Amino acid sequence: MAAMISPSPAKPAGTPAAPPCTFVIFGASGDLTGRLLTPALYHLMREGLLDPGFEILGVDRVENDDAGFRKALGEALHTLGADAERGIDEAAWERLAAGVRYLTGDFADPGTYARLAEHLARRAEATGHANAVFYLAVAPRFFAPIAASLATAALLVENDGGFRRLVVEKPFGTDLASARELNARLLAAAAEKQIYRIDHYLGKETVQNIMAFRFGNGIFEPIWDRDHIEHVQITAAETVGVERRGRFYDGTGALRDMVPNHLFQLLAMTAMEAPNSFAADAVRTEKTKVIEALRDLSPDEVPRAVVRGQYGAGTVLGKPRAAYRQEPDVAPNSRTETYLALKASIDNWRWSGVPFYLRTGKSLAVRRTEIAIQFKRAPAVLFRDTAGTPTPNLLVIRIQPDEGISLRFAAKVPGREMRLGEVEMDFRYAEHFKAEPQTGYETLIYDCLIGDPTLFQRADNIEAGWGEVQPIQERWAAHPEDPALYPAGSDGPVEADELLARDGYRWLPLS
Ligand code: BG6
Repeated sequence: MAAMISPSPAKPAGTPAAPPCTFVIFGASGDLTGRLLTPALYHLMREGLLDPGFEILGVDRVENDDAGFRKALGEALHTLGADAERGIDEAAWERLAAGVRYLTGDFADPGTYARLAEHLARRAEATGHANAVFYLAVAPRFFAPIAASLATAALLVENDGGFRRLVVEKPFGTDLASARELNARLLAAAAEKQIYRIDHYLGKETVQNIMAFRFGNGIFEPIWDRDHIEHVQITAAETVGVERRGRFYDGTGALRDMVPNHLFQLLAMTAMEAPNSFAADAVRTEKTKVIEALRDLSPDEVPRAVVRGQYGAGTVLGKPRAAYRQEPDVAPNSRTETYLALKASIDNWRWSGVPFYLRTGKSLAVRRTEIAIQFKRAPAVLFRDTAGTPTPNLLVIRIQPDEGISLRFAAKVPGREMRLGEVEMDFRYAEHFKAEPQTGYETLIYDCLIGDPTLFQRADNIEAGWGEVQPIQERWAAHPEDPALYPAGSDGPVEADELLARDGYRWLPLS
């Protein structure tokens, strides 16, 4: 689209290093620590955004020591993901590795917290700071008990100018009641400003760019409403199946796994009003207002507005894929949905009458997350006698992969006669910004370290999301049905096509 002026990394030159901190990871031996947190911390160290004395303290009941934990993190970094392919900056890794420590301890044992308190006290004496982040990279059932134990051990008390923060991973509850309860239990242990609830979609550059795109350009906002936009499609398609997560996923399903969190975040970014500033509460308040304005479905409306699918056997990216019910740790008669499509309506002044269609699924034809804005068609009167009619303008914000933004518009096909064709303007991150891909966790960890909660979920935001999906959960619980089958490697079930066809629209094809 535009010629780029200068590359702009995630945190541009001149961004100060975060304050010194002890970064305590509960669940240090888990998958998340090696696969996502370690590369993110390494990137931050490489970019000079961590204090030289930064310490990672792993806590887990798996027996280990400092050297063993350091070795495990090093192996993860050197063998998994994009960094392993690109090559590691060993000096940066050494700087990070120098601060890696480990504490063996059961999360339910008060002795673990006593030893943690001693460790932090010793460190405060040695370094002069008492800052600590407690990152709960653990199964959700441990969130509230760990927070309570930290509070009992007085580890969440902020004094001597040091900060104490709690990072909570998803899933945050399984429905409105459990999310409320979890919020209440966390808030009994710490103040709201100490709690950082993660939705890793908010760490993605392209998601943050939605605000820059909408509010940093003069030309889009005036047409960003019901007068100009016909409908919106939000897609989060994945090629992966459930892989080794069968136990978790079979009890969760696509609705809970993706909708009240990730898809609603994309929806909120797309539909929110401009906040008064980038202050955390200004942004989060506007986002929550969008979710609260979603029209409540009555349980009887659910079957027409929501499609559940489950993948059968098929071929994904050229490789055979077993049916969901044959995956490890999945019940052979499971009714869990691996696909979901939903028609949402936002009952506010700007969006009244504009349908928002959301879809997400596993084992689909391609991996693609995008937001497609279809504008209203131009009147065709002028072109009634010409070849081709104007197709509606389409703006597609590609969240991942192939991050970018494209705009489709009509153009005259060269020649003697007036013939309309479709062309596209395309902006691609990879071409214009030479920044290396990040996991999204870099931004979130850095923001937590500097105390900026803008990209984290506030309690009301999470509860609003669960509140909107509650009628769907209730209807499904009252009328358990098999989901519609779709072949692995396809675009999803035909029932999802019918959802849009009823309104005269079609999904953008995935493949
Ligand atoms: C997670 C879900 O929160 O998000 C996964 O639990 C899903 O099931 C993942 O695969 C998708 O994240 P991303 O960043 O790959 O789009």
